[in-house]
Amino acid sequence: MTLDQSPAHSDVLNVYDGFGRIYGSAWGPNIHYGYWENDADDSSVEEATDRLTDLMISGLAAQPGQRVLDIGCGIGYPAQRLVRTSDVDVVGITVSRIQVADATKLAAEAGLADRATFQFGDAMDMPFPDGSFDAAWAFESMWHMPDRGQVISEAARVLRPGGRLAIADVIQRDPITPEGRVVLDHVVEHYGVRSLGTVDEYRKALADNGFVDVEITDITDNVIRTLGLMADAVETVRDKLAELVGEEQAASLLHFMREFGSVPESGYLFLTAVRA
Ligand SMILES: C[S@@+](CC[C@H](N)C(=O)[O-])C[C@H]1O[C@@H](n2cnc3c(N)ncnc32)[C@H](O)[C@@H]1O
Repeated sequence: MTLDQSPAHSDVLNVYDGFGRIYGSAWGPNIHYGYWENDADDSSVEEATDRLTDLMISGLAAQPGQRVLDIGCGIGYPAQRLVRTSDVDVVGITVSRIQVADATKLAAEAGLADRATFQFGDAMDMPFPDGSFDAAWAFESMWHMPDRGQVISEAARVLRPGGRLAIADVIQRDPITPEGRVVLDHVVEHYGVRSLGTVDEYRKALADNGFVDVEITDITDNVIRTLGLMADAVETVRDKLAELVGEEQAASLLHFMREFGSVPESGYLFLTAVRA
């Protein structure tokens, strides 16, 4: 079995190298939620997804010339924006070799080949020496990790003392009702998600791994619009989705995407922390 084929990765690859590419064709190259200031904010998906990237960039507060690790880089759009905004060098890792190739090609086309590089790497066992990064972010990748504590421990290892960590993650919020459980379970089962984290779990994992100055913000109200808009976008490519997964499954995916955007158990956090 190669590393790519490990059970831990195959769920994720089924999504990102499979129907996720159809979602991406409708949603755009930022493979994450959007951020809207308030209910009256009518920003486009492109503007809102870039705004969430900008929140992560400000949380990271990286200085020009620093080396930043992007844990779960997708096709590298957030990394490109980070390079341009903060004048840093970014190394992105993902368990999808297709994403590595796409991200590398897109960075080259953007003239950033020497500043944004991408490689195969598992966040659970990062292929980097201790203390080799000034900052790191995990931008909506943690929900795929078999053990969030292990990834935070790895982040602590590869960051230098004083290095900043930023995380944006889909989480679950208490209390979990039976109806909410059905929706959360669907997401875990169909989106390569290992489990949904909680604010308390993050606080403990960060403290256990020596992170200080932890600031956690629940930004659910700002981002939750994403699910309905994503379902609308995917409806425009429903034929392609049904061709790949079947009509029944396409209908189920779309139904639960809207449900996930409406149950109170569905949450989202943004956090920053400093490696002591
Ligand atoms: C929702 S996408 C976010 C992509 C990107 N951060 C963005 O915002 O556009 C989740 C990413 O996490 C990556 N991922 C999932 N499990 C991983 C693991 N164990 N190690 C590294 N990356 C992983 C996926 O391949 C994918 O690139």
